[in-house]
Amino acid sequence: MRPKAISIAAASAAVLVSGIFCSSGNNIISDNIANAEIQTRLLLEASEAGDTIRIPSSFQKGEVVFVPASDWVSGFFAGTLWYMYELTGDEFWAEHARKHTEALEDIQYLTWHHDVGFMIYDSYGNGLRLKNIDGYKDVCINAAKSLSTRFRPAAGILQSWNVDGGWQSERGWKCPVIIDNMMNLEILFKATEFSGDQTFAGIATSHADKTLKNHFRPDWSSYHVVDYDPETGEVLKKCTAQGYADESAWSRGQAWALYGFTAAYRCTADKKYLDAAENVAGFILSHPNMPEDLVPYWDFNAPDIPDEPRDASSAAIIASGLYELYGHTGKDIYREKADKIICSLSTPAYRAAQGTNGGFILMHSVGSIPHGNSIDVPLNYADYYFLEALIRKRNIEAGLPPVE
Ligand code: GLY
Repeated sequence: MRPKAISIAAASAAVLVSGIFCSSGNNIISDNIANAEIQTRLLLEASEAGDTIRIPSSFQKGEVVFVPASDWVSGFFAGTLWYMYELTGDEFWAEHARKHTEALEDIQYLTWHHDVGFMIYDSYGNGLRLKNIDGYKDVCINAAKSLSTRFRPAAGILQSWNVDGGWQSERGWKCPVIIDNMMNLEILFKATEFSGDQTFAGIATSHADKTLKNHFRPDWSSYHVVDYDPETGEVLKKCTAQGYADESAWSRGQAWALYGFTAAYRCTADKKYLDAAENVAGFILSHPNMPEDLVPYWDFNAPDIPDEPRDASSAAIIASGLYELYGHTGKDIYREKADKIICSLSTPAYRAAQGTNGGFILMHSVGSIPHGNSIDVPLNYADYYFLEALIRKRNIEAGLPPVE
């Protein structure tokens, strides 16, 4: 049974009564920082209770859900703590961010799925950027080496998932690549910068080029999964795993595409990636099923819109990506739309009341409806990208590039 979706009317009413001045610069940023401090301290207490370090991923049935370090979302809480440090300058957050980052040390050697990029770059990558901690560069290079073991030269891509176990083994795939994998490329580009070894950037560029060629439809919506023959490179199938249908536009997939190609442009200065990001942004922002408050339904083609769950995580990723896109293009529309998303997410329709939601900041995200997993709940990556978007917004308002 699907949870009842938030109606657009309710969300709009919340915008009116929120008391947050969405168009007045710093106010919404400072309000969100103060709120995030209260919420994140609560979550931190739960995750460090009993002197252990646990990784919070969600809050469901009244309990914080913790995941093992090998879960694809394991880097986001450490990253959230780094962003709290960046937003507040308070060493308290850096100290805890470091603890949660170093709890992921073994993950640099993880080779059985592609998300080592997310996991290590959100944690160690942010720690390196903000504190230049000894040894963190080597961890990022090792993670890039681990990720590179998944490169399939004949197809020119990084294989996302293994197909010898779990639900992925039941789909008949040989070498599935998901659009999300664009998010794992940044650590490869960085590893080349850190080590001088061009192999990493070469793999990332090849993967981005193949994704550009094979993942998009003529309207610039993205397939979720493209299955390749790893021996010949032939595309065997285009389909979905987490979306409504093979031919639908799963919202978080579109968000990953927008963000991933924008970041690929930052790392390469190759204009075709910027053009792709702008085309994806055009698809997202002009879609007739995009709600007025710009928080998408979980799939743009979900069958029961408007009675479908929204996905705040997609909204947060889109906002953060659009701020960066604004930085590269100077086009005000991207900044205005990102501001609108941040405004929507800052209202009580999506932002939890202080002391509730297990300490997570945002409510109403969707993990995977086809898997019956994490539907209409808080998710740690929604909070991570929300805070990242606030940092980018603050940088822009200070006249700085959104991504430094
Ligand atoms: N990368 C997995 C997801 O977006 O759910």
